[in-house]
Amino acid sequence: MASILSIHASPHGAASRGATLALQAVANLQAADPSLALVERDLSVLSHANVPQAYSEAVLAQQPDDHAAFALSETLISEVEDAAFITIATPMHNYTVPACLKLWIDLVLRHRRSFASANGVKTGLLGDRPVLVVVTAGGLVTGPGAVQPNHLAGYLTDVLATVGISDVRFVYLEGLVNPVQADIAMAQGIRMISEDPAFGSRQGNPPAMARAVNR
Ligand SMILES: Cc1cc2nc3c(=O)[nH]c(=O)nc-3n(C[C@H](O)[C@H](O)[C@H](O)COP(=O)(O)O)c2cc1C
Repeated sequence: MASILSIHASPHGAASRGATLALQAVANLQAADPSLALVERDLSVLSHANVPQAYSEAVLAQQPDDHAAFALSETLISEVEDAAFITIATPMHNYTVPACLKLWIDLVLRHRRSFASANGVKTGLLGDRPVLVVVTAGGLVTGPGAVQPNHLAGYLTDVLATVGISDVRFVYLEGLVNPVQADIAMAQGIRMISEDPAFGSRQGNPPAMARAVNR
């Protein structure tokens, strides 16, 4: 059965505005195709702060895919392979992805499994599929008012391209420290997603959640 993989990287769990918006996209997809199963991956509960030593050693020793140290990596890669659509809800932490999403990246980008490499050129092995990245940020990240660097979007774009995924769109919920701006950003985010060809409310389905969430 095809699935929607919904990756959550916020420490705020269900209260995360990013997760709330990503689940709006999930609701749109399931309204258009009720057979799509939802697989949620909450990265904030991963038990490692870094890749385990055994994983690093297994990567460097080019161990086979069924090596015990690859168990979690295999699970996470399989979730991507099985997904017809992927949502990634991630806060910006110090201009880039939070540590738990970086850990997911280090477990999913595995040489000879999710990408091949020849003469320094990497080729993705997982196949393309639509990805929605919802970036939440306390400050402004885009537009003329943004005064901070954005090392998240370009980095995540390169990471996903490494495994073969290029059908990626970013929706920003920014300026969230300001409650008024937060409500505006949420309303804009809902509208942007509803208009997206892949993640929008298709077949005339109205957005399942049509108001901003206060927190
Ligand atoms: C450790 C840490 C670092 C942060 N770094 C940034 C940052 O670089 N830029 C920014 O705009 N907001 C930053 N923030 C604010 C988060 O982006 C904010 O908590 C996020 O929008 C919450 O989103 P959520 O509701 O999806 O959890 C940071 C927050 C934390 C806890």
